[in-house]
Amino acid sequence: MTDTATTDEVTRLRDAGLAALRAAGDLDELDAARSAHLGKKSALAQVQRTLGQLDDDQRRELGRAINAAREELAEAEAARRVELEAERDRHQLAAEAVDVTLPPRVPRQGRLHPVQETMEAMLDVLIGLGYRVAEGPEVETDWHNFDALNTPPDHPARSLQDTIYVHPIDGQAQVGEDGSTGILLRTQTSPVQIRTMLAQDPPLYVAMPGRVFRADTTDATHLPMFHQIEGLAVDRDLSFADLKGSLVVAARALLGEDVRLRFRPHFFPFTEPSCELDAWYGGKWMELLGAGMVHPNVLTAGGLDPDAYRGFAWGMGVDRLAMLRHDIGDLRLFVENDLRFLESL
Ligand code: DAH
Repeated sequence: MTDTATTDEVTRLRDAGLAALRAAGDLDELDAARSAHLGKKSALAQVQRTLGQLDDDQRRELGRAINAAREELAEAEAARRVELEAERDRHQLAAEAVDVTLPPRVPRQGRLHPVQETMEAMLDVLIGLGYRVAEGPEVETDWHNFDALNTPPDHPARSLQDTIYVHPIDGQAQVGEDGSTGILLRTQTSPVQIRTMLAQDPPLYVAMPGRVFRADTTDATHLPMFHQIEGLAVDRDLSFADLKGSLVVAARALLGEDVRLRFRPHFFPFTEPSCELDAWYGGKWMELLGAGMVHPNVLTAGGLDPDAYRGFAWGMGVDRLAMLRHDIGDLRLFVENDLRFLESL
């Protein structure tokens, strides 16, 4: 082995290394080129390991050549690294760039269902009159839904034809702690009156909104599920005049100050006397709600002394009122989920 041949070889290895380092297209390729040309297993390192076998002069000369080659390669690697890192950062910034001139994606604005909206409008009026809002379960005992509301077991409303039972009465029914013989989907919001009276002491001024269920055949004015708002006032000396005054104020707030109203005698098991309230609308009288003075038996079932307290109550159908407010002829439109209809209101 001659000196010249060996330093030539170092020069050749250096040039090959420089070419590889400069050609690296990304940082991974650069790392690979560095370990191939500068690493422990590189040809240059192998040549370096032979230095010990040379005499002093040769070793000095070749050693210098190797060191110079290593330095050049390290410099070339560092220079290429700076370039490749800058390139990587440029790409990353470009990929993460946000175009602030793009138009924003505006989420579709929803709104309350017209029935819900009517419900809230009515509740707003009642809250303004000093009522608070209470809710009860949709799955109810027959005791809360009927017995406690002075509606005896043989009442036609309790038949399977009118009421949707969860546990139908089959003669085997368990009698619950409260005297219930069955579980049903509440047919009215009136059972929440009982729950409210049992839970709180008068004075009570409570509005009770919610869904109710009846085994009705669906048509333009009937759905098996609809909405009611129940009102209950219990205090020391309430009279029928308070009932009339409250309902006239509420109806006017909802339907307009000049709405024509009429009270008509009626019968409900849970009130005595009872009445219905009609509004003149679209050229005819529309029934708005049923109402009356709370029956003493109902106060008793609610745990209150009928000699100490008197109350009035009413129950109104919300869906029909929403029909009136939006001038809609068919209740079924409310539950068909056709956005073209709902958005047109
Ligand atoms: N619960 C009755 C119904 O569904 C409506 C009603 C009438 C409620 C008179 C009352 C009331 O509180 O006093 O038809």
